[in-house]
Amino acid sequence: MLRSTTLLLALLFMPLPLFATDLASLQTLASQLGLSIPERAGGKLVPPFVIAHRGASGYLPEHTLEAYGLAALLGADFIEPDLVMTGDGHLIARHDNQLDLTTDVADRPEFAARRRTSEIDGEPVEGWFSEDFTLAEIRQLRARERIPRVRPANTRFDGQFRIPTLEEIIALVRDLEQQLGREIGIYPELKHPTHFAKLGLAMEQPLVEILHQHGYRGADAPIFIQSFEVRNLQQLRQLTELPLIQLLGEPDARPYDEVAAGGSLTYAAMASPAGLLHIAGYANGVGPDKSYVLARDGKNRLPADGQHDFVENAHAAGLAVHPYTFRAENVFLPANLQSGTDEAERGDLAAELARYLEAGIDGFFIDHPDLGVGVKNLWQAR
Ligand code: G3P
Ligand code: CA
Repeated sequence: MLRSTTLLLALLFMPLPLFATDLASLQTLASQLGLSIPERAGGKLVPPFVIAHRGASGYLPEHTLEAYGLAALLGADFIEPDLVMTGDGHLIARHDNQLDLTTDVADRPEFAARRRTSEIDGEPVEGWFSEDFTLAEIRQLRARERIPRVRPANTRFDGQFRIPTLEEIIALVRDLEQQLGREIGIYPELKHPTHFAKLGLAMEQPLVEILHQHGYRGADAPIFIQSFEVRNLQQLRQLTELPLIQLLGEPDARPYDEVAAGGSLTYAAMASPAGLLHIAGYANGVGPDKSYVLARDGKNRLPADGQHDFVENAHAAGLAVHPYTFRAENVFLPANLQSGTDEAERGDLAAELARYLEAGIDGFFIDHPDLGVGVKNLWQAR
């Protein structure tokens, strides 16, 4: 009895092996997760683009090679790494420079003294920050699920996956392109560019150098570079012909570079017909919060007649439209497309997405890329 209990405890606490990101390992992972791989054509990318938001973040901790690789296997057109800088100037994939939100840094005594309060985009934030770490130190950390309350199943992978660099992501994509026989795009976002520039860690030149060095050049490369800020996109336009996407946040908010410069330009003004024409002077598309495309009503429902003219105005300005973010769980869905009362239960994401495709979007950010590919397939076959 004692022996079997000891064995059971040993098995429970045995560290699980780190996953690999070769095709066979990713197929095993998909099968363990009970995911089926949707059909998709090979070759070049065709809109509307399925953009795997932070990787297949509905199924695995976000911004890990495993989440990106799984997204590619599930048929995503693009994988989306958000990028921040390390103190020694490396671009790594995290949504936030505050590392404790999605890594185990808070549990590592060797880094306890790095905790501090920093001003990030004008707000005081307490935690551990990427700019205080070298890449060698970042490599010691392991990723964790960001929203365990909504995605408890993903926490079984906590502590297993590393934090990747942009170069490692490109290498993964190149490898999977070979193995899957199709193009896979990369959709990098520069996070906190003004903050990092103030620290002497400007992100734009390193990003362009890495992309150009790896053969991503010209307006047709399978890349979109995105930012919520404006001036860095305008600077990028001078550095590269690669496609650029202006993200649009909450209507009343201002891009942080605008705030820092004392300007008054809001995202609402940027989303107006005149604002979109201005954006077309430096960017190739917009990534709006999805409410710009179809607004919910006062009861959080997506009304049948809720469309307005944002997509039409953006297209008239020559801009592609890639709204964010589509997620399958009730808590993220309109009230009339939810199922049951549990916030973590899956609702009718397919119906929501179909409405946006009808509205004319050219791509969409999604946490569950397999579901997005399924809806895209139906849309193309209609
Ligand atoms: O980049 C598009 C979308 O990802 C923006 O939201 O906060 O997930 O980066 P966020
Ligand atoms: Ca993003």
